[in-house]
Amino acid sequence: MEYITLHNGIQMPAIGYGTWDLRGKECVDCVAKAIQTGYRLIDTAVMYGNEWEVGEGVRKSGIQREDIFLTTKLDHRYASYEKAKKGIDACLKTLQTDYIDLLLVHEPYEEYISMYRALEEAYAEGKLKAIGVSNINQRLYDNLLSVCKVIPMVNQVESHVYYPQLSYQKYLQEKGTVMESWAPFTEGRRRIFQEPVLKKIAEKHQKTVGQIALKYLSQNGIIVIPKTAKEERMQENFSLFDFSLDESDLKEIGKLNGGKSLFGWYEP
Ligand SMILES: NC(=O)c1ccc[n+]([C@@H]2O[C@H](COP(=O)([O-])OP(=O)(O)OC[C@H]3O[C@@H](n4cnc5c(N)ncnc54)[C@H](OP(=O)(O)O)[C@@H]3O)[C@@H](O)[C@H]2O)c1
Repeated sequence: MEYITLHNGIQMPAIGYGTWDLRGKECVDCVAKAIQTGYRLIDTAVMYGNEWEVGEGVRKSGIQREDIFLTTKLDHRYASYEKAKKGIDACLKTLQTDYIDLLLVHEPYEEYISMYRALEEAYAEGKLKAIGVSNINQRLYDNLLSVCKVIPMVNQVESHVYYPQLSYQKYLQEKGTVMESWAPFTEGRRRIFQEPVLKKIAEKHQKTVGQIALKYLSQNGIIVIPKTAKEERMQENFSLFDFSLDESDLKEIGKLNGGKSLFGWYEP
């Protein structure tokens, strides 16, 4: 397992387990299984309606809470300073934990800056170990940077081989923010597992297409949180750190970049 050090010294796992669309007992069992497979970062959100199940999965895994890096996100229901303050306590309660490793403002709501102020205060109080944003483009990020006290540790955005956002990653890195990818497999919007360029490189390294797609992001300093409900894929997606892509691989994969969001979420 590799880690990325956030600007406050906290070590964040370079790969995590995404939980969007996992519900009920399946979610509890998948989270426990993912942790037993080796994942230490678990990504959830109020919006996913599964925070309680994620908390249960962490407990069921048998791994100590302090060895897990738990991320959640506040959505539109908490879109104000006051509401976000309440939202933080609600997340702690639902996840059944004393602290959250990383809390993000889920989307650029009109009130995202005042929500972030509530996160800064909870960070100072020790309820949150790290704070950040999600789906924030460069203009909104710069606005936040001009007024915040704590530089966001993470910005979680759409990022995959068809829209990796590598120049934005570099920009964020220079400012002290780590980029985290959501939908590293495009959430099914593209036939990524049939992509000829990735297939050729996968054969060369005796790896799978999924591992090549994740490695491309990881090798560019981006944290990945693929979701799978299948045990064998949990293992597959996690096995990223015993090989490297070479310059020619990176160049070939770079040609897949269409320069456009597949979700249409990042218009300036
Ligand atoms: N901040 C945000 O706004 C935001 C938005 C979206 C997602 N997220 C987070 O990012 C995480 C990842 O994104 P995502 O879940 O949307 O999409 P994703 O990880 O790109 O894709 C998940 C899909 O890929 C399949 N899959 C996974 N591993 C595979 C493999 N090795 N081979 C073949 N198929 C594979 C899964 O199917 P099976 O389950 O059947 O394996 C599932 O259908 C989410 O779970 C969530 O935690 C955040």
